[in-house]
Amino acid sequence: MADDRIELFVGLIETIDAPGAADACRCLLSAEERVRADRFMFERHRRQYIFAHAMLRLALSKVAPDVDPTDWSFAAGRYGRPFVASPKTSTSLHFSLSHADGCVACVVSGHEAVGVDVETVSRRVAPLSTALRFFAPEEVETLRGLPEPAAIERFFDYWTLKEAYLKARGFGLNLPLDAFAMQVSREAIEISFKPDIADDPQGWRFQLCSPSPSHRLAIADGSRAEGGLPITRNAWPLQEAAE
Ligand SMILES: CC(C)(COP(=O)(O)OP(=O)(O)OC[C@H]1O[C@@H](n2cnc3c(N)ncnc32)[C@H](O)[C@@H]1OP(=O)(O)O)[C@@H](O)C(=O)NCCC(=O)NCCS
Repeated sequence: MADDRIELFVGLIETIDAPGAADACRCLLSAEERVRADRFMFERHRRQYIFAHAMLRLALSKVAPDVDPTDWSFAAGRYGRPFVASPKTSTSLHFSLSHADGCVACVVSGHEAVGVDVETVSRRVAPLSTALRFFAPEEVETLRGLPEPAAIERFFDYWTLKEAYLKARGFGLNLPLDAFAMQVSREAIEISFKPDIADDPQGWRFQLCSPSPSHRLAIADGSRAEGGLPITRNAWPLQEAAE
């Protein structure tokens, strides 16, 4: 079980999307998930959804091998955070799921306060004007002081880190993105909160990585485990889906 670690699963869609893979993955989804998948107007969004939700099922079953990937069922919490409704496992399993153009990712852990976010890095983004609308003043200041390529990279660091934190807390966008600020340096990634936010910066650990040159991924770990939970990265577990 994953109570003492974070299992990270990442898949690049160009690698996953072999002939027959989307159909094999669709077979793992619930009737409700298939209905959601079919509602997407664009085929690439439909495939992204199918791969993400199949990956989540395969990931949970990798951590709890007694449960078949098709047997997981999910419900949503107060702010829309999905959780495992059944079957019950000996240690409760928590997850966070993210999908972006070309990449799907999820984390599974015994700790609830864990979140993941992946975004497609676009060189066309205007980091300052977007940050001015959404981010905390200290983040805007940092971006202002950076030359363009570095500002774009830092913008996506902030974006994924902030989303990963919101997802770990289960808030979605019910907590404004400027209510907390990220500080990213070579040595550490830290968070600070506006005075009215009831959270402790010391309780959080963050990790950033690039699954491909055009994707940035962040993990937020609020488990309070000493030094943060170790993260195990898993290859896309498509084997079972293709069989
Ligand atoms: C829904 C939200 C949690 C994440 O959205 P996102 O980053 O666009 O999308 P992701 O693919 O990373 O995450 C979506 C998944 O998060 C999960 N999720 C939904 N609500 C959640 C919540 N309250 N808490 C945790 N996870 C949640 C779901 O598994 C969802 O997948 P699904 O819709 O396929 O079931 C929310 O933060 C949001 O709407 N963000 C908008 C992004 C934005 O505009 N950011 C501005 C930054 S400049």
